[in-house]
Amino acid sequence: MKSATALAVTLLGFHLADASPRNRTSVASHKGLTKEKPAVACQGTDFRPLSAGQWIDAASPGWNAGNTLDATPTEGSWNNPPLQGSTLDYVKAAGYKSVRIPVTYVEHFVGGSPDWKINATWLQRVSDVVDMATSRGLFVITNIHHDSSNWADVTKPGANQTQIQEKFYAAWLQIGKTLACKPASVALEPINEAPGNTDQDADNLNKMNALFLKALADSGGYNAQRVVTLSGPGMGADKTHWFKRPANMTNPWAFQFHFYSPYDFVFGAWGKTVWGSDSDKAAVLAEISSVRNNFTDVPILLGEFDASQLNAEPAARWKWFDYVVRTCKSLGITTVLWDNGLDNLDRQTGQWRDKIAVDITMAVLRGENNSLADCTTDPSATTQQSSAYIFNKVGSSVTDQTLPFLLNGNKFKSFSVGSTVLNEGQDYTISGSAVTFKKSFLSTYLSPTAEPGTKANVTVAFSSGAPSQVEIVQWDVPTLRSYTSAAKAVPSGDLQIPIVWKGLHRVAAVKITTSAGAYLVDDWTQWLPDLQKGRGTFNSQWNYDQDRIIITRGGLDAVASSGKTTTFMFEFYPRAAGNGNTLNYTLTV
Ligand SMILES: *[C@@H]1O[C@H](CO)[C@@H](O)[C@H](O)[C@H]1NC(C)=O
Ligand SMILES: *[C@@H]1O[C@H](CO)[C@@H](O)[C@H](O)[C@H]1NC(C)=O
Ligand SMILES: *[C@@H]1O[C@H](CO)[C@@H](O)[C@H](O)[C@H]1NC(C)=O
Ligand SMILES: *[C@@H]1O[C@H](CO)[C@@H](O)[C@H](O)[C@H]1NC(C)=O
Ligand SMILES: *[C@@H]1O[C@H](CO)[C@@H](O)[C@H](O)[C@H]1NC(C)=O
Ligand SMILES: *[C@@H]1O[C@H](CO)[C@@H](O)[C@H](O)[C@H]1NC(C)=O
Ligand SMILES: *[C@@H]1O[C@H](CO)[C@@H](O)[C@H](O)[C@H]1NC(C)=O
Ligand SMILES: *[C@@H]1O[C@H](CO)[C@@H](O)[C@H](O)[C@H]1NC(C)=O
Repeated sequence: MKSATALAVTLLGFHLADASPRNRTSVASHKGLTKEKPAVACQGTDFRPLSAGQWIDAASPGWNAGNTLDATPTEGSWNNPPLQGSTLDYVKAAGYKSVRIPVTYVEHFVGGSPDWKINATWLQRVSDVVDMATSRGLFVITNIHHDSSNWADVTKPGANQTQIQEKFYAAWLQIGKTLACKPASVALEPINEAPGNTDQDADNLNKMNALFLKALADSGGYNAQRVVTLSGPGMGADKTHWFKRPANMTNPWAFQFHFYSPYDFVFGAWGKTVWGSDSDKAAVLAEISSVRNNFTDVPILLGEFDASQLNAEPAARWKWFDYVVRTCKSLGITTVLWDNGLDNLDRQTGQWRDKIAVDITMAVLRGENNSLADCTTDPSATTQQSSAYIFNKVGSSVTDQTLPFLLNGNKFKSFSVGSTVLNEGQDYTISGSAVTFKKSFLSTYLSPTAEPGTKANVTVAFSSGAPSQVEIVQWDVPTLRSYTSAAKAVPSGDLQIPIVWKGLHRVAAVKITTSAGAYLVDDWTQWLPDLQKGRGTFNSQWNYDQDRIIITRGGLDAVASSGKTTTFMFEFYPRAAGNGNTLNYTLTV
């Protein structure tokens, strides 16, 4: 470190003592000097090196500023506006200690081989966003993100590996110089989820890890002492065996992996809307433990995980969050929540779309047991029960309703709606771990003729851990203006079908059947239980938003290529075979 600093000072002939001791301007950014590519010299002595273990502990838990600086062509191009300080204030207030800042560089190169110059305005923006986080006391990890499926993809047929390596080194040299003087709370990660499926790919990716470290050493500043994370191909737990530790590594380092398992529950595939059986838990434990067992001497970062509230049923999601974060905590792994801007935090209002999942995370990390809304975990059940909801169908009489909870050693503390605390005996009764909401209380909101929709949320507080919520919902089957159209009437884009919601504003699953009686996609799902047979996948064939249900381009194309008139059976919550809470939309060919 010292020699790099001294060298830069000599080369540049700068009188560094003239500058304020806290001035950490990158010397290399001065006009006319960039060609010499000097290493950066930093002012001041306020870099206090951290071990990787110290960084990992202090960064727990973290939040991803997803779909932001990683959007293409640039920040603001996707569903989020440019990152604002207020968003980081909300993140910090919720208890997060670090922010992962994914950055995509692909559209920001302004020069070609061999220097691969990156637009200075963009590098400055990255630097400013890092400062925005560190100035709030948040730890930071930043990377090269979606470039992994673009110029940096080592798996592309005919890829010029020499050029990928040249560009990758050049990019990291510039990013390294830009961030050289940032405090030790800023960690770096070479590249996000770089694809790799063969020994050869893995070899190329391991070389890139080494080039990343070399670029950091060459960039100067504090980078040779900075914490880094390294990963195997794809960052999945399944490919860690391909990861090789770079020789003679001096940076303090942690291993990073990502976790989105099980795929069907996390991504809303094949009608899988339950989670939490013993075997579900065993699978999560096995996957996360396999990473721990392979890296017993290295701190570990779970850099991304989520099961989006857009497709995961709330009680199942709460169980999944509790179990995943608890498992990671027990194995000393720090978790960083993925947030694409639609999943978790509403960045404008500061409201968490599922605050309970956030509170569950924080309680686990405080060492508390969470009490959880119980829910169906058996995928072969034909009714999905969930203590996140009390449902009443239009036309039905209101009755007492009993909901089971998993108390996990806690006791019920209080039930409230807003600031109104409910009365035990009158509004509800408790029997063991179950609560019964009385007909008299529920009748405040529900009746055979009440307007459908969300009526009230009961906050359930426990002696320890996060609170839970019971949403009281009057439901009926949603309606559409029309129930059929010709597949070819939508030549491009998605088919968006305006809907009048009648209960929860969300779709649970979609069964897709052709006029020949076959399943349109994933025919093998015929072997799955009844509530999963023939179901498509969220975002692949179907979607929804505030006002519309959507058949995606993927769904439309599948219908066109099948050549068969196809029925999309949209299913809503409550989900139960034969409860009629479905509607059919037919695409003719
Ligand atoms: C920081 O240093 C740069 C380059 O030496 C100089 O242009 C700038 O005025 C200095 N800023 C402060 C606050 O000292
Ligand atoms: C660098 O980025 C800025 C801001 O997007 C843009 O105005 C400028 O044209 C870019 N420079 C080059 C050389 O492309
Ligand atoms: C591969 O990339 C290197 C470095 O940019 C370049 O010199 C070489 O010409 C490229 N090879 C081909 C076949 O394009
Ligand atoms: C990683 O763990 C898995 C499962 O425990 C094991 O099969 C694999 O060999 C391990 N790889 C390494 C490099 O330790
Ligand atoms: C690592 O260090 C050893 C001992 O100093 C040296 O022999 C070896 O060449 C180095 N390897 C690399 C890849 O630099
Ligand atoms: C927390 O939960 C675990 C597992 O259910 C249980 O063994 C333990 O006793 C609980 N701790 C407390 C303080 O209730
Ligand atoms: C209950 O909470 C959900 C979010 O969990 C929200 O969408 C809904 O509007 C709330 N209902 C009421 C009546 O406030
Ligand atoms: C909707 O379609 C499914 C499958 O194609 C069918 O089993 C069901 O009876 C239809 N429902 C209605 C209300 O037409």
